[in-house]
Amino acid sequence: MKGIILSGGTATRLFPLTATTSKQLLPVYDRQMIFYPLNTLIKAGIREILIIVAPEHSGQYLNLLGSIFKNHGIHIYFEVQKNPRGLADAFIMGESFIDHDNVTMILGDNIFEDDMSDMIKNFSSGGMVFAKKVPDPERFGVVEFDESGKAVSIEEKPVKPKSSYAVTGLYTYDNRVVEMAKNLKPSKRGEIEITDINNKYLEMGELTVNMINGSWLDAGTFDALLEAGNIVREKGISKNFHPLINEAIDDFNLRLKNLAKATLEAHNLILRK
Ligand code: G1P
Repeated sequence: MKGIILSGGTATRLFPLTATTSKQLLPVYDRQMIFYPLNTLIKAGIREILIIVAPEHSGQYLNLLGSIFKNHGIHIYFEVQKNPRGLADAFIMGESFIDHDNVTMILGDNIFEDDMSDMIKNFSSGGMVFAKKVPDPERFGVVEFDESGKAVSIEEKPVKPKSSYAVTGLYTYDNRVVEMAKNLKPSKRGEIEITDINNKYLEMGELTVNMINGSWLDAGTFDALLEAGNIVREKGISKNFHPLINEAIDDFNLRLKNLAKATLEAHNLILRK
């Protein structure tokens, strides 16, 4: 299983914070936002991860994640996306990275309290999404269920949602997703929609919709960003990161401290001369 984190976009709702950095590099309590989706993938056993970033922020991602995992068995790759074309573009941009494997894609701003690792580890074929009951389903892809509780369709941002269950930003697919994404036509909002992929798998009877109960956060506004930090702190979400992540961060901090110390010593040496 390969992993993709979609971390492009301009996040204008968070201006001026996002005038200087990417939304997904903003802090959520004690870690940059990107570590939360990284944790979701790494906990699920995924070790090859492609991060799709906007050109103006690529250097910042490289500074933070370019070498942090190099001794920890996790391989991070980057792809620069000039124009965001929709979520499904991740599978087209990631085609050679995905190769013949299955893939889990997560949005770079999605923070989950629940642990979906086992479901991702046990995935064999088709598609799998995670739905969450929300008060404002019209903002999302919404699942419609029949009387027996079976998912029958997904509608993207419906004016009259047929349920309160939103599709969250975590998607697992088999390798056929690449060809499906390549054949998509842009929607009315001009994007190639992940909802169209989900509906294709649904029509084939191969989409699993799992429900989640814990917090699901996307920190899209100032209030939501603040709330995300508070929830992360209260629920200890960053404290419970996979040990590989916290070890990598500790090593990285040590390397940075040593570098600062060496720079200072060299500076003092010059001054003393
Ligand atoms: C996208 C998807 C939508 C999904 C949502 C999750 O919406 O199109 O189906 O429910 O992510 O955050 P967008 O971020 O493009 O508004």
